[in-house]
Amino acid sequence: MENVNSNTNMEEWFDAKLQKNEMIEPKDWMPENYRKHLIRQISQHAHSEIIGMLPEGNWITRAPSLRAKIVLMAKVQDEGGHGLYLYTAAETLGSSRDELLDALHTGKAKYSSIFNYPTLTWADIGAVGWLVDGAAIMNQVMLQRTSYGPYARAMVRICKEESFHQRQGYESMCHLAFGTTEQKQMAQDALNRWWWPTLMMFGPTDDKSPNTANAIKWKIKRESNDQLRQRFINQTIPQVEYLGLTVPDPDLKWNEEKKGYDFGSPNWDEFMSVIAGNGPCNRERLKARVDAHKNGEWVRAAAKAHADKTKEMEFAA
Ligand code: 3HC
Repeated sequence: MENVNSNTNMEEWFDAKLQKNEMIEPKDWMPENYRKHLIRQISQHAHSEIIGMLPEGNWITRAPSLRAKIVLMAKVQDEGGHGLYLYTAAETLGSSRDELLDALHTGKAKYSSIFNYPTLTWADIGAVGWLVDGAAIMNQVMLQRTSYGPYARAMVRICKEESFHQRQGYESMCHLAFGTTEQKQMAQDALNRWWWPTLMMFGPTDDKSPNTANAIKWKIKRESNDQLRQRFINQTIPQVEYLGLTVPDPDLKWNEEKKGYDFGSPNWDEFMSVIAGNGPCNRERLKARVDAHKNGEWVRAAAKAHADKTKEMEFAA
């Protein structure tokens, strides 16, 4: 911890550090609510990464070419890595990995709503890379400057990899959209199904987002859910047009005054139902995760035995 003068009020010291845009580090003093807020957000983020491996992982055996298979495997593996960096960042706040995973496995912790939708065709894998990873980057670029050091540093690497994911998704959509009539129809169908759930990824509208005020005050989030959603739409519509596709929103219209698109409202009842555990794939996703954790028990035991043995040998030497 930095040297804090005994007369200095800890809270003032913390606020001053934020004001100067300096990072808060694990051993620094921090308000308890800041710590809890971060554990909540970082662990939900970590859970999203590892649950996010499932809808794509189930297409690895069905990828249409060796190249597509290799790219998809690399992407799914990257998501696993993101989960590990983020769990490690959350652990620096005093929460154990076991506690965090237990909250996920017992349904107490949230993860991104988007991963409770099914990937029905190969075009969905393109749409997920393009839209879902695209939305994730839009949200996560600002997190590289989040106020908590270990989270910010994890996000630098994550953003680089997400950017590759977004490009591979768009490349795949280009192949389909500029391919046969049937392929173009597959791309349109995937876009129709993923568009609204992608917009929901940014979270509820600002007036219904209980965590945003503190997140902005503490410089955890630098922009609000609505600001990021708007930027994502502004950036993505030209890409949709290039593909010769359309989004399923009759209210979408360029607004010259705000230099951005007006758009319709996502179905927020559906969003609430999905985050409450009742989306199309919630049960399937959680079961797959719990099963994977149980099946990995022997790997964790073997790794621990190896680490203990190594320590014992180092001690004896
Ligand atoms: N899915 C599930 N839950 C969501 C959600 C979503 N799309 N959006 C909001 N929520 C939840 C919040 O977690 C919060 O629940 P809680 O209070 O019980 O924890 C509640 O709805 C109210 O939302 P708020 O807007 O008040 O919450 P936040 O300020 O935390 O904003 C967030 C939500 C934008 C998701 C924010 O937490 C965030 O930026 N998180 C970090 C990024 C992240 O988690 N991204 C996941 C995307 S997927 C991904 O990264 C994988 C990649 O490989 C594609």
